[in-house]
Amino acid sequence: MAAFVFLLLCVTLAAIPFFFLFRASRCRRRMLPPGNLGLPFIGETLQLISAYKTENPEPFIDERVKRFGPIFTTHVFGEPTVFSADPETNRFILMNEGKLFDCSYPASISNLLGRHSLLLMKGSLHKRMHSLTMSFANSSNIRDHLLVDIDRLVRLNLDSWNGRIFLMEEAKKITFELTVKQLMSFDPGEWTESLRKEYVLVIEGFFTVALPFFSTTYSRAIKARTKVAEALSLIVKQRRKQSEAGEKKKDILETLLAGDYGFSDEHIVDFLLALLVAGYETTSTIMTLAVKFLTETPLALAQLKEEHDQIRAEKRENEALEWSDYKSMPFTQCVVNETLRVANIIGGIFRRAMTDIPIKGYTIPKGWKVFASFRAVHLDRDHFKDARSFNPWRWQENSGTTSAGNVFTPFGGGPRLCPGYELARVELSVFLHHLVTRLSWVPAEEDKLVFFPTTRTQKRYPINVQRRNHVSKLCKE
Ligand code: HEM
Repeated sequence: MAAFVFLLLCVTLAAIPFFFLFRASRCRRRMLPPGNLGLPFIGETLQLISAYKTENPEPFIDERVKRFGPIFTTHVFGEPTVFSADPETNRFILMNEGKLFDCSYPASISNLLGRHSLLLMKGSLHKRMHSLTMSFANSSNIRDHLLVDIDRLVRLNLDSWNGRIFLMEEAKKITFELTVKQLMSFDPGEWTESLRKEYVLVIEGFFTVALPFFSTTYSRAIKARTKVAEALSLIVKQRRKQSEAGEKKKDILETLLAGDYGFSDEHIVDFLLALLVAGYETTSTIMTLAVKFLTETPLALAQLKEEHDQIRAEKRENEALEWSDYKSMPFTQCVVNETLRVANIIGGIFRRAMTDIPIKGYTIPKGWKVFASFRAVHLDRDHFKDARSFNPWRWQENSGTTSAGNVFTPFGGGPRLCPGYELARVELSVFLHHLVTRLSWVPAEEDKLVFFPTTRTQKRYPINVQRRNHVSKLCKE
C-alpha cells in the first residue's frame, strides 16, 4: 500500500510541470490569431504547395479568411506562421522592419546570396546601402544615364527574334544583360552569357533543401555560386586598379569601390550578386506576363499599340526613347500597374517577430514567422472591383474601381522597399514600346500560370513573332 501511495505521489509530482506547460500554451494559443496548424511537422505546407502549383491558388487563402478572418495562424515550411491578408497589418509589418520584425530567408537562399548581400544586411549598414542602391536606381539616374542603354539593349535583343521563341527565356536574357550593364558597365557577349548560365544554376538552388548531400540541385548551385563569385571578383580586382589609376565609370561598382565605404572584394561580390538576383527573375517575369495578359485582352493591346505608334511617329526608326517619351505613356503605366497587381511576382514577404507583438487584439509570439500577403490584398474584391480580372482601365483617373490607401504594394514598403521599383517600371515600358512597334506575335501553344516555387508560366510562354512590315512608315523620315 505504501509503495502504491509513493508511486501515485511520484506520478502526480511529475505531471505538475506538464499541467502548467499545457495551461500556459493554451493561454498563449488563446491570444494567437485563430487558425489551423494542420498535421504535425508538415502543417499545411502540402495544401499550400498544391494550391500554388495551379492557375488558381486563391482558394487556399479565401477559405481561411472566410473561416478565421484576414489574420490567421497556419503552419508552413516547418514553422507556425501568422498569415496576414489585411492591408493595415501588412503595412504595420513592413514599417516595423528592424524594430519589431526582422527579415528572414531560408538557409538555402541566405547561403547562396552571401552574408554581405543587401537582402540580408541589417541595422545602419543596411540603411546606408539601401539608400545607395535607391540613389543608383532613382528617376534622375535612369533619365540621365541608364535609359539610353535600356533602349539600346532591348532593341538589340528584339531585332534578333525570329519565328518561335520562348518569351520567358528571352526576357531573362534581356534583364540579365541590362543588370550587368548597370552594375559594371559590361556589354553583352560570351562572358555575360556564360555567367548567366552559371547564375541560372544558383537560382535553381534557392528552392531546395540546404543540404549538399541531400540535394544535387543545391550542391550544383553551390558550385555555380563559387564560379560566379570568382568571375565577379576578377572584375572587381581589375576595376579597383583602374579606379585607383583615375579611370572612373558611372556604375554601381564604381560607387562601391569609392574610398568612403572601404569594402573588401568579398563584400562587393556578395552585394553585386544579390542585385543580379533581385532584378532578374522579377523583371523578366513581369515582361512575360504583361505580354500574356495583353494577348488575352485584345482591346488593351490595341490601345497600347496606338499609344506607342504615336510616340514612334514623332521619332526616326532607330531613335532612342527619351525620358519625356517615357513620361507620355499613360496607358502603358495602367498596364504596368495592372500586371503587377494581377501577377504578384512577389506574393508577399516573410518576417520574424523579434518580440511578442500585439496586433488587432491578438499576439504574435516572439520568434514566430509572419507572412504579409500582398497577393491576398491585391486580389481582394473589397479593395479592387472585379479584382480577379485583368483590367488596366481601372488605373485611369476617376475609374472608381480601385480603392485608395495602402492596398497596392507590389514593391513592398518601409525600410526594405524595393530600390528597383522605378527601374523595373522603365524597363518594362521600354520593352513594351519596342515590342508593339516592331513585332506582332501569336501564342505558339497554350500555356498557363503557376505560382510555386515562383510565379511563372509552365512552358516559358512560347510565341511566334513576326516583324511589323510597316514599322518604318510609322516613323519620321
Ligand atoms: C517587377 C519587378 C520587381 C518586383 C515586383 C520587386 C519586388 C520587390 C519586393 C516586394 C521587395 C521587398 C522585399 C522585402 O521587403 O523583403 C524587393 C526588394 C528588393 N528589390 Fe525588387 N522588385 C523588382 C525589381 C527589382 C529590380 C529591377 C531591382 C534592381 C535594382 C531590385 C532590387 C531589389 C533589392 C536589392 C531588394 C532588397 C531590398 C532590401 O532588402 O533592402 N528589384 N523587391
